[in-house]
Amino acid sequence: MPRITIPPGIEGLVELVELPDPAWADRWERIIVPGDQKDRLRNYLVFSLKHRAKLNQVALPLHGLVILAGPPGTGKTTLAAGLANRAALDLGSPVLFVDINPHAFPSQLLGESQRSVARLFERTLPDLARRALPTVVLLDEVEALAVSRTGASLETNPVDVHRATDAVLAGVDHVARTCPNVTFVATTNHKAGVDGAFLSRADLIEEVGFPGAEAVRIILADSLRELTGRDLDEAAVAALAVDCTTAQLDARQVRKLVLRAVCERLELAQDPTRTTVADVTAALRSSRDRLEPSV
Ligand SMILES: Nc1ncnc2c1ncn2[C@@H]1O[C@H](COP(=O)(O)OP(=O)(O)OP(=O)(O)O)[C@@H](O)[C@H]1O
Ligand SMILES: [Mg+2]
Repeated sequence: MPRITIPPGIEGLVELVELPDPAWADRWERIIVPGDQKDRLRNYLVFSLKHRAKLNQVALPLHGLVILAGPPGTGKTTLAAGLANRAALDLGSPVLFVDINPHAFPSQLLGESQRSVARLFERTLPDLARRALPTVVLLDEVEALAVSRTGASLETNPVDVHRATDAVLAGVDHVARTCPNVTFVATTNHKAGVDGAFLSRADLIEEVGFPGAEAVRIILADSLRELTGRDLDEAAVAALAVDCTTAQLDARQVRKLVLRAVCERLELAQDPTRTTVADVTAALRSSRDRLEPSV
């Protein structure tokens, strides 16, 4: 599917793309989270994109908002994009994917942030929604946008931040009311920093955690296969997976560990297809003391 050119002068838009795109399938398939969690996300998005317009908002207050919350490197951003692609396949019709950069509204002074946030929700998104496609809007790292009004002191959380957060809440409500074809997928690795009223609007909150041993095993095998083009000793991969969970590696760190093994030896850098599970195990051992513990 062709990437859509973003019209000039639209603030905070990172990407506008029509899905499905076969190149995006990996963002769903290769992110390993518990199967029931993937099923819930998939079912929710299909339901929301397909039926929200028909439902009475008092009887079933569907806001069209799902939140993926969890520590860094657990796959939230990738999964959010993969989910939109999956939904386009499930619906059997194109889905418009809109990626918003919450960090594009940094100036919380003089009401500037409040105004640009209002513009995003009252003009930009409704304009995009008028293309009449089921639309998924990614609010990545939403803690930057819907800052908790109770979470910080008045000094670090001045009145303009409150107003910007109010504008986000009003904006989400506005889109929920006027654009039933839009569903938001928000991510955060700092749920405590997200405003309570924003969290309360979510139809579904999925907590994405560190991968367990079985998930790590699949991720390691996947990264090693990518690098070497072959399957490696399954028992050794399973044992290494257990060591990775003991070391509390997040999923991103697990994949980086395979890279680290390559960085340890020039011959592997020259020919990475020679990488073995033993090399990755050695990389874990050498990095164990140096890796920052994940939070
Ligand atoms: N659950 C997972 N399964 C497989 N690979 C993963 C998983 N989580 C992360 N990865 C790997 O790490 C990469 C980065 O993940 P991603 O950026 O989606 O994480 P994130 O949760 O959004 O992190 P952050 O909170 O730092 O933004 C992915 O592209 C993938 O290679
Ligand atoms: Mg992310």
